[in-house]
Parts: sequence; structure tokens; C-alpha cells
Amino acid sequence: MAEATPPLKFIEISPRAPRAISFTPCAMDFAHPPSDPVAEAQRWFGEAFQLGVPNPNAMFLATSGADGAPSVRTVLLKAFDGRGAVFFTNRESDKGSQLAKNPRAQALFHWDQLGRQLRIAGAVTPLSASEDDAYFATRPRDSQIGAWASDQSRPLASRDVLVGRVLECAARFEGTVVPRPPHWGGYRLALDVIEFWQADPFRIHERARYTRSGTGYDITLLFP
Ligand SMILES: Cc1cc2nc3c(=O)[nH]c(=O)nc-3n(C[C@H](O)[C@H](O)[C@H](O)COP(=O)(O)O)c2cc1C
Repeated sequence: MAEATPPLKFIEISPRAPRAISFTPCAMDFAHPPSDPVAEAQRWFGEAFQLGVPNPNAMFLATSGADGAPSVRTVLLKAFDGRGAVFFTNRESDKGSQLAKNPRAQALFHWDQLGRQLRIAGAVTPLSASEDDAYFATRPRDSQIGAWASDQSRPLASRDVLVGRVLECAARFEGTVVPRPPHWGGYRLALDVIEFWQADPFRIHERARYTRSGTGYDITLLFP
């Protein structure tokens, strides 16, 4: 006899949990979408920063390697202009290995308080060594030491091992400038696709996709 399937138990959200969406006066006009999606995305970042929430520049970065299996994690956006979205990581991490085999990615920002989601997708290229050095030099010393101490994405026998490596690296670089580890650096995700999604109070949400075409972008409105 087949076993009875247990009923789904849905996650309960407290009715008191804040779900407020504050619509800013600068909401994007999807009926007349702006021609420059990079400037519009920069405006959205600015408004997300004004919210005062932690890590408004956190993005969910999706990659896949040779096996095609998707993999997603959070990284912090560190620069954004017409050339792309820049983040930094350990190039020997899982994401780094995947990007070496399949240099394409998609990234997603979600700012619940603004009722907005921003998606970008495109080809990924490593930054130059001088760009890596310039950013690494701005990092707090503890983070610089952490970059040496962590074999990101590799198995860790115990936390003590990591703590020991941090202490060892701190001692090694005592009294000197911490150099950038050769495996640590940035990537630029090109803006081949930029997609804006904005919540509507009556749930008729709005969505526009910009797809790079020559030197500009084609604009398509999508069912949300
Ligand atoms: C808020 C937040 C920000 C993060 N920022 C970064 C980052 O900028 N770079 C990074 O390599 N990992 C960052 N991480 C850790 C990653 O999510 C992830 O654990 C790590 O990069 C290893 O991912 P991988 O094994 O898929 O390569 C962040 C995590 C959180 C929660």
C-alpha cells in the first residue's frame, strides 16, 4: 500500500511582521521607460542606500559550471557603471571555478522596503591585477588577513583550524602592509540584460527588461 503523503505545512508569517512597501515619489514610469537603464539602476541603488537597511548592495549571484547545475550565493556589489557590476571574491572558490569554466552569471537585488527587484545578467570577466590591488588596499586589515586565511569553499575540519590560520597570517604580516593574495580579486558582470520589477499596491506589478543591442538597449515590458 502506498504511504500517505504528509500534508504541506506552510511557513507562517506573523500578521505583525512588517510587510510595508513604501513607494518612493521617484518610482519608475513603466509606461514611459527611461532610455538609460544603467542610470535608472544607479538611481535604484541610491534609493536602496537611503533606506538605511544593512547591506543594500547585497546581491544573489547565480553561476553554473561545466555540469550546468545552478549555484547561488550572496556577494556585495562594489562598483556599478556602464561596464558592469563588480564584486570581489576568492577566485579558487566554487564560484571562481565555475566562472572559469562558464563565464556567465546572473545577479539579483531585492529591496523589500522599496517593493523592488533588479536583475542583471551577462558575461563575466576578471578585473585587472591593478584593479584588484586598488580595491584590496581599501579593505580593513582584518579582512585582508581573512583573505589569506580562508580557503573559501574548501572543507574545514574545525573552526579552530580557521582561527589558527587567521592568527598565523596576522603574525606573518605583522608590521607590514598585507599584500593581496594572488587568488583573491574581482569580477565584472557585464550588463547584457537589466530587468526592473516594481511592486504595485494592487498586485498588478510592473516589469521591464532591457536587452543590450549594439550601443543601446531594446526595451520589453513583461507580464510580472
Ligand atoms: C551579506 C553577505 C555578503 C557576502 N559578501 C561576499 C562577497 O562580497 N564576496 C564573497 O566571496 N563572499 C561573500 N559572502 C559569502 C558568500 O555568500 C559565500 O558563502 C562564499 O562566497 C562562498 O561561495 P561559493 O562557495 O559559492 O563560491 C557574503 C555573504 C553574505 C551573507
